[in-house]
Amino acid sequence: MSYPFQITSQEQYEMAYRVSINEPDQFWASVADNFLWRKKWDNVLEWNFKDPKVKWFQGGKLNITENCIDRHLKTMGEKPAFIWEPNNPEDRVRVVTYNRLHKRVCQVAQMLKNNGVKKGDRVCIYMGMIPELVYAILGCARIGAIHSVIFGGFSAQSIADRLEDAQAEYIITCDGAYRGGKDIPLKNVIDDALVGNKKVKNVIVYTRTRIPVSMIKGRDLWWEDEMEHAEAQVEKDGVVSFPAEEMDAEDPLFILYTSGSTGKPKGVVHSSAGYMIWTTYTFVNVFQYKPGDIHFCTADIGWITGHSYICYGPLCAGATSVMFEGIPTWPDAGRLWDIVDKHNVNILYTAPTAIRSLMGFGLEPLKGKDLSSLRTLGTVGEPINEEAWHWYDDNIGKNKCPIVDTWWQTETGGILISNLAGITPARPAWATLPLPGVQPVLVDENGKEASPNPSDGGALVTSGNLCIKAPWPGIIRTTWGDHDRCRQNYFATYENLYFTGDGALEDEQGNFRITGRVDDVLNVSGHRIGTAEVENAINMHAGVVESAVVGYPHALKGQGIYAYVIYNGHHGDESSRRQDILQTVTRVIGPIAKPDKIQFVSGLPKTRSGKIMRRILRKIAEGDTANLGDTTTLLDPAVVDDIKNNKL
Ligand code: WTA
Repeated sequence: MSYPFQITSQEQYEMAYRVSINEPDQFWASVADNFLWRKKWDNVLEWNFKDPKVKWFQGGKLNITENCIDRHLKTMGEKPAFIWEPNNPEDRVRVVTYNRLHKRVCQVAQMLKNNGVKKGDRVCIYMGMIPELVYAILGCARIGAIHSVIFGGFSAQSIADRLEDAQAEYIITCDGAYRGGKDIPLKNVIDDALVGNKKVKNVIVYTRTRIPVSMIKGRDLWWEDEMEHAEAQVEKDGVVSFPAEEMDAEDPLFILYTSGSTGKPKGVVHSSAGYMIWTTYTFVNVFQYKPGDIHFCTADIGWITGHSYICYGPLCAGATSVMFEGIPTWPDAGRLWDIVDKHNVNILYTAPTAIRSLMGFGLEPLKGKDLSSLRTLGTVGEPINEEAWHWYDDNIGKNKCPIVDTWWQTETGGILISNLAGITPARPAWATLPLPGVQPVLVDENGKEASPNPSDGGALVTSGNLCIKAPWPGIIRTTWGDHDRCRQNYFATYENLYFTGDGALEDEQGNFRITGRVDDVLNVSGHRIGTAEVENAINMHAGVVESAVVGYPHALKGQGIYAYVIYNGHHGDESSRRQDILQTVTRVIGPIAKPDKIQFVSGLPKTRSGKIMRRILRKIAEGDTANLGDTTTLLDPAVVDDIKNNKL
């Protein structure tokens, strides 16, 4: 039985959903038939959530880069895979066709091979948003090396931790990166990260900004030299080739580090086949991609959204993507609209934070910008408030473009809950319906399925912790180097369920509204940050005795970071102490984790057993000091008044 890859009506969605649940093997085999396999699978799915063990398409052999590139070459080799928009709008746009992408990826693969990189080796990639970043990612995938991209906003210390955890032996980076008015010295950061590192053999450096860099003999190599050498090896008589490594369906494709509620970031591992199928299937269906569309996802490739919806999903679908080096507010707040106008963008996928920030500049930056090419709008990364949703709908989509509110996570590989553009209804601030194969369920604290309650309007609404009952092809396979951590984090809270860490509402029609994290993870401007991580960084400061970090509603960022700090040093005044703490956090994690507010306190509200009562701190940070609940069980109830009275 074969089912259409692209869903084109509400009835088809309902049918696909039904079949995907009742006959998952048949359904996913039919979807997988749309890809290029060296050898087809023996078994569609084997799983349990106890270990957890999830194996899709076992026995299947493939290479994802043949699906992203090679299979398109015959019919659309000269079609642009990427239109690269540089940071500076005055600079030259680069168009990368599928033929060119093929050549560059073969060159990178050869370059890596020349330097001894083998299947399964870990390659850390720390670059700006330039086409070479995609070449590096796919070059790794071509030879079966596992890439681990690190976002440019992370500090040397964060990189060092990730290098160590992944036991990475190779790094690909740039001298520097342009972002708006800034020139970020990436290679310098890598050099700092490598102090004391004995594992890394080579650092390959691409020249982007031409700031001076230190190049260590025997370790550091220039990308340009290595690529030139590789070119002569992969191109013979005008024909480019580099044989792709044959990968098992379940071989790891990449590691991407993300924050959880405890300890250090974990390396989320995605597989080759399942991830490929999930990103492509969701890209085509959620955005209702049509051949010829220009797709523009504004995310950074350092995060999962860039991996799935700039790199792998669109390329497997043979799409043309705009890749943007800069930021939405430079040189002015009209930049995204200029790009939409200039490149006739049809699909625009961005974050609520970006929308809220651009909203703040009013309608002036939109004047004279032709946005009529737009057909589909999308959001991702955090709950979107109704005001931002309507601003996006009115001023960008001109009430003609469906908005898809896509809910998913680094661990899910691709979108799990979203309306399908123009096919299933949109509803402001609701992610709405699950994709085929996705079985969400809301549970209470004890893991019991939550029951519906009448809401204000009388309709029944269920509220609870969002879990998923069964695996979809893009689900996380393990956390790098520590499978039990994967089990504990996602599969141990509730028996036989994948726990997302999010809270949600469900209406009577099965639509979902994501309300935000219910664990100790913050979502700041759509970036995930663990409160424990920030606390650890603050506590590294010599004058700090103890700290507690919570989130609070922030008009622009969605959530802001509020830190309560017990300080014992004598150095400087309050303001310089704050600056020193911020600098410490920047060093330990990176500028993205800097607290918005630091309140110095004499003590923290603790239970008699010594546990910090975050609920109270959260309420105070939110400004809800009237409803702190019972504080009599605290070790020292007086600290609460002190904290309340000195709230920032
Ligand atoms: C949040 C980003 C509401 C959620 C793809 C999730 C959302 C976390 C939405 C994952 C949405 C993502 N509505 N909340 N449409 N999309 N989130 O791993 O809390 O960076 O758990 O993946 O972002 O963040 P991550």
